[in-house]
Amino acid sequence: MRTNQPQTIYLSEYRVPAYLVDNVDLRFELFEDGARVHSTLAIRRNPESDAGAAPLELDGDSLVLESVALNGEVLADDAFEDRGDRLIVNSVPEQFKLSVVTWIEPQNNTRLEGLYKSSGMFCTQCEAEGFRCITFFPDRPDVMARFRTRVEADKTAYPVLLSNGNPVESGDLDNDRHFVTWEDPFPKPCYLFALVAGDLVEKRDTFTTCSGRDIDLRMYVEPRNADKCAHAMDSLKRSMRWDEDVYGREYDLDIFMIVAVDDFNMGAMENKGLNIFNSSCVLASKETATDVAFQRIEAIVAHEYFHNWSGNRVTCRDWFQLSLKEGFTVLRDAQFSADMGSDTVKRIEDATLMRTAQFAEDAGPMSHPVRPSSYIEISNFYTLTIYEKGAEVVRMIRTLLGEDLFRKGSDLYFERHDGQAVTTDDFVKAMEDASGRDLSQFRLWYEQAGTPVLDVADEFDAERGVYRLTVRQSIPDTPGQTDKQPQHTPFALGLLDEHGKALPLRLSANEQDAPVERVLELTDESHVFEFHGLAQKPTPSLLRHFSAPVRVHYPWTREQLLFLMSHDPDGFNRWDAGQRLAVDVIQSLVGEPKDTPLDSRLVTAYRHLVTDSSLDQALVAKMLQLPSEAYLIELAREADVPAIHAARERVLKHLAIALRDDLVACYRRNASGEDYAVTPEQVARRSLRNTALAWLLVINDEEGRELALRQYREADNMTDRMGALRALVNSDYESDREQVLDDFYQRFQTDPQVVEQWLSVQASSPVAGQLPKVRALLEHEAFDWRNPNKVRSVIGAFAGQNLPGFHAVDGSGYDFLAEQVCRLDDINPQIAARLVTPLTRWKKFAPAYRSQMKSALEQVRDKSGLSKDVYEVVHKSLA
Ligand code: PHE
Ligand code: ZN
Repeated sequence: MRTNQPQTIYLSEYRVPAYLVDNVDLRFELFEDGARVHSTLAIRRNPESDAGAAPLELDGDSLVLESVALNGEVLADDAFEDRGDRLIVNSVPEQFKLSVVTWIEPQNNTRLEGLYKSSGMFCTQCEAEGFRCITFFPDRPDVMARFRTRVEADKTAYPVLLSNGNPVESGDLDNDRHFVTWEDPFPKPCYLFALVAGDLVEKRDTFTTCSGRDIDLRMYVEPRNADKCAHAMDSLKRSMRWDEDVYGREYDLDIFMIVAVDDFNMGAMENKGLNIFNSSCVLASKETATDVAFQRIEAIVAHEYFHNWSGNRVTCRDWFQLSLKEGFTVLRDAQFSADMGSDTVKRIEDATLMRTAQFAEDAGPMSHPVRPSSYIEISNFYTLTIYEKGAEVVRMIRTLLGEDLFRKGSDLYFERHDGQAVTTDDFVKAMEDASGRDLSQFRLWYEQAGTPVLDVADEFDAERGVYRLTVRQSIPDTPGQTDKQPQHTPFALGLLDEHGKALPLRLSANEQDAPVERVLELTDESHVFEFHGLAQKPTPSLLRHFSAPVRVHYPWTREQLLFLMSHDPDGFNRWDAGQRLAVDVIQSLVGEPKDTPLDSRLVTAYRHLVTDSSLDQALVAKMLQLPSEAYLIELAREADVPAIHAARERVLKHLAIALRDDLVACYRRNASGEDYAVTPEQVARRSLRNTALAWLLVINDEEGRELALRQYREADNMTDRMGALRALVNSDYESDREQVLDDFYQRFQTDPQVVEQWLSVQASSPVAGQLPKVRALLEHEAFDWRNPNKVRSVIGAFAGQNLPGFHAVDGSGYDFLAEQVCRLDDINPQIAARLVTPLTRWKKFAPAYRSQMKSALEQVRDKSGLSKDVYEVVHKSLA
């Protein structure tokens, strides 16, 4: 067990840095057995600090210190102290140059923080605190410096040498070595530093900015991936144009580079001028990537590009402000994706993620506000709350201000804070100043954790023709927070008459030209809204577009939901009504006998979706997805996973049997004739087709099986091939399943991104992903403990998506996860801490499961030499 308790960092203890760094001069000597880093920092006392002539303290992690010099004079051993995680220089002048030489071993770096090697190339990951693994430095985002970086390496093995900014010098050295020097003119925090050295091919393009500047766009990938760059490059150009058009943001450097690496902890990283991507989030060809992957790549390329303004030009003061850049940037990439495809579909996807995963996080032991007030390990705070809820919070500001004032606010924010490291409060202030609106109560969204609940009740006063809506807001207690204040919440709604016509929303008896949709503002614990001039009790369409990240409780009847599902003029709420109806039906079957009759109206509603091709097919494709098990678990008080799984399966099978012929017709109607393209129409078509196939196989339909086998063989794109593979893998046709899985592996074994999909389609399947099979995948030649994608594809997919497998009654799934987390903790603590998440939700489950989950967590807690990453998650979960 751990003896010394890791330290908690508090926002309230923030102090401005005692010393500032104006310039950083780096020289990297890269070798096979390690790297020598020469760093010279131009440092001065911070006039805004009251620390006076305090000793200089620099952060470090896993560094071998070779020498320290002050203004060129090598320091004697007693003039500084190397504490491992800190280098302290006792007396320093007001302004000076500090030169430090360190030795590091990238080839042994399995944490993938700092400088490491990934399939033969050198690369870096510095956010949040990785730069200290490279050299001693004040590793905090409010220290911003100009970087000059010289990279030296063997010319044959590493012909490409990259860093941030512009290349200013290059040449040959002795021993077949060479160098390139890069200079970044924009001061930046060290978390945005990047370096890459490898044998990479270069793909080039150009973008002409709104002011007529030509930007050199370059992608660097391993030679075998040369034909998988086009989609990312196109996405980049679309992002650059969009940010000019919608936010008035022009790119600043002359070069923009993207590098793909196979071993990466996260999706991608916005290093200044040199974005580094997880290969799976940037490389695509129609043969190897699904539609979902294509769309994810477009969104992530945009996200990282947008960070150049929301993150890099204006950055975070400290890591408590992480959502300043992430929340805003996620909103920006969501707006972009909506503009590139379908607004409604994108909103459905985001609301699903929020309601399934973020609400669960917010109700769990790691619940924290969008701006947390303490943490042990900042890597644990790259969460759905910071990213997705953070984006919802900025979206609500946009809804409250309206598009134009929001843009004014964003312009003011960028202008006022360009080149600064600021807080979420500075962001809100800019929005207030530009709009004249008071957002003081709104700020609670940043400070209070937990998902607000809106309890809605209604009554109709037939005599007066008044419909009265009462909305009560409450926010549940979360760790360390009770008795919360109501939050300023935009609540969008409409009212429908019995024909589905949108009614004018008159807030007073004589209001003229009332709109048919309104955004009501909730500020108090309880509000009563009266709508006048109504002949009959209307059907309310509540929280349209998911206008706030809240739960809405309203006693919908199934009639109302069926009605909204086919009549709501708002596409998002039509989908939402379908989900609520399906949830209601499934919930009513949980734990009930197998012959409990099923509401036949569900079949009618789904038949309408499957057969009426005049409906928006992209929306239909979404509406046909039954609520996931994860969502049903989130909604349950004490989840019994096998019972939930069985109830959901029953509904699925019932629908598939009843709609069998319609599904075959739908499959045939959506056969693709034209060349593959990732357009909303084609994506919807493939999705419908693959859903039809999956449903047919759930009921062991012979024709479905033949269609699936044929589709698998004849597919010219991965969406169709994977759709067929997945349907077969989840079916009872065992020999077909084994055969296509083998075939798939034979075909694609040299492509790591496809092998990841192959691993996860098995591990996530309740049919193919039985525990012994999953254990066998860990022994497979394609598995690699040091590669986070492979780990996620097997262990993450099993624990996160194969819920019946993970929640096996004997607790074997829990023990399995505990065992793998312990093993991974010694290799890559960040990944281990993320992987343990499913166990942390133990309080959510029925008693028999709960106690076994808890003891698995205790197993992890008691591992010796536990990292602080896993320590924090496990201890908070057991508290
Ligand atoms: N800042 C990255 C992003 O959201 C995510 C990231 C965090 C990547 C930490 C690596 C390490 O774009
Ligand atoms: Zn980001």
